[in-house]
Order: sequence, then C-alpha cells, then structure tokens
Amino acid sequence: NEKGENSSTFKMGNSAQERSLPYVPDCYVVPPSCESRDALKSNSEIVPTIDISRLRSGNDERRRVIQELSLACQQFGFFQIVNYGINQRILDDALVVTKAFFELPAKEKKKFMSNDVYAPVRYSTSIKDGFDKIQFWRIFLKHYAHPLQRWIHLWPQNPPEYREKMGKFSEEVRKLSLEIMGAITESLGLGRDYLSTQMDENGMQVMAVNCYPPCPEPATALGLPPHSDYSCITILLQNLAGLEIFDSTAHGGSGRWVLVPEVKGVLKVHIGDHVEVLSNGLYKSVVHKVTLNKDTTRISLASLHSLGKDEKMSVPNQLVNDENPVRYRESSFNDFLDFLVKNDISQGDRFIDTL
Ligand code: SIN
Ligand code: FE2
Repeated sequence: NEKGENSSTFKMGNSAQERSLPYVPDCYVVPPSCESRDALKSNSEIVPTIDISRLRSGNDERRRVIQELSLACQQFGFFQIVNYGINQRILDDALVVTKAFFELPAKEKKKFMSNDVYAPVRYSTSIKDGFDKIQFWRIFLKHYAHPLQRWIHLWPQNPPEYREKMGKFSEEVRKLSLEIMGAITESLGLGRDYLSTQMDENGMQVMAVNCYPPCPEPATALGLPPHSDYSCITILLQNLAGLEIFDSTAHGGSGRWVLVPEVKGVLKVHIGDHVEVLSNGLYKSVVHKVTLNKDTTRISLASLHSLGKDEKMSVPNQLVNDENPVRYRESSFNDFLDFLVKNDISQGDRFIDTL
C-alpha cells in the first residue's frame, strides 16, 4: 500500500504527481499551520493593476503611475500589469512549450534532474525532493536566462521550439523588469537609473518553469508553501488561477489570503526580498503560496530578476536617517542560495535578514 509511504521513499522523478495517484500520499499533506487553511480567501479586484504604458507618457502621468505603484508596493508588495508592450503571442508560445516540456516522458526530463540549488539548469519535483518532511505538488525546471547566450545552450532541446520560444519570452520579460525596476527606484527617490544599468549588465534572471498537476484532494496539499521570493522582482505568467497572496494589512493587521484572479494578458509582479531591503522595509516582499486544482494542470512562468550573483543589496544611505536606521543586513543572491542549502525551507521560511 503506497499510501503509507513516507517521504524518504519518494525518489526524484518518481513523484506521486507523475504517477497520477488517486489520493494524496501523507508526505504531501500540509499541516494547517503552514497552509493557513483558516485564512479568509477572496477572489477580488482589490489587487492593484498598473497600466505600464502610462509610465512611458509625459512626466505628470509618470509621476501619478509611480505613486500608484508605490502604494501597491507598500500595501501588498504585489501588483498586476497591463499594456506592458509584449505581444500576447510571445506569452502564449512560452506557455505552449512549457506544457510540451512537462508532457515529455519522465526519462527525457530526468536529464535535467538535480538537487543542487546552484545549478544553472535544474529539474526537480519538490523543493528538496526526497528530503523534506512535507512535499509540494509541483514539478519544475529552473534555468538561468541572462545573459541568454551564456545559458541557452544548456536549456532543453526538446520540445524543439523550447529554446527559441522561451528565449524570446525571457528577453522581453527582462526588458520589462528593467523598466519596472526603474520605476521602483524612482518611486523611492533614488532615480530611474539607480540599479537598472547594473542589472542590465550583470543582473541575474532565473526562469522558474512550474507545473502543478491536478491534485485528487486539492485542499490537503499545496503547490508551494507560503514564501517570499529572493529576487528584486519576479514577473509571473500563469495559465490558470492558483496563486494566493497574503495581504498583511487586512483585518487590522491580522491579514488574509487573496486569490489572484487569472485574466488573460495580465502579468503579475512580486516585490522580492531585495526590494524590501532596498526600500529599508517601506516596500514589503509579498508572501505568497500556490493552491491546487482537482482536474486541471496549472502552469506558471516566474521570472526572477536580481543583482549579479555576488552583488550585495544594501539599504541606500539616502533612505537612512535618525528616525529610519538601517533595518536589514546586506545580502546577495548567492547568500540566499547558501541560506537555502543550510536551512529546511519546507515550512515556507523567509530568507530576509533583518537587524
Ligand atoms: C512562485 O512562487 O514563484 C511561483 C508562483 C506561481 O506558480 O504562481
Ligand atoms: Fe515565489
């Protein structure tokens, strides 16, 4: 009886998700403390939506949008974007090749299998598959995407269009990330170019290509536990709803979970830990989790953008004074990876290092 199996007997590539079990094995069952099952959920329009084309219009309009963006970053650490200027076809194609990749025989995908969080290309079936007490109902491929020419030859060659379509998507999203980072640093009074040149030249882009297969008992498991991203920002494309964000300001500070509705053509932006550091805590990196569907496969592409691997993010002097002392230790992308290796993050810890 497989139902009695514990996580140590689950080996990579042999996950319940890929075997289409009719039940959820114990190692996937999430305790209520981690899942926050009691939290209020509302599928609402309260999530701010920003028309990016307005950032490209005159100064007054840009100022207004930046004000909206600043409020969204303070309240949610999350916003949706429209009119960002990427052809819908490029987004659709990226989802198509993603789906085709996950539909390949397990043997083909296993070529990329790795538990090494430093690996530039890595396929896995859980955060640290086989070692976590609790596992998550997710299969993923993660690959570096910038500079594209340095990494693309390591990406899957199957499906045949994967590199071309995912490459195009990665490049477009990266340009957008620089524009959004420019607006974020401007909103903090640091100017539009405070980080964008540095990020353009040396920045990291990690593409998390996620597949959440149908789950026979969606209420008992999670696609991903509550966490924040160790990026500056993450730009997210999904085919179906499933992402929930934590609105910590709701209910007098006790907070609630908000299911982010899926609207075609709308991209999502997460404020990551490094923008929380950059803003000395004015902007919050959004805590989010992924819930599951009973009958449908959810696919998401999360493009993480940050400084170069060893470049430390620190609180700018301009944002520090007697009333606002430095609240965060400086850290790099690599520091977060080191943290990942040393700690059990299956409970959805945050990596952010406050003083
Ligand atoms: C992530 O947490 O980065 C992925 C979220 C998602 O699949 O929506
Ligand atoms: Fe995330």
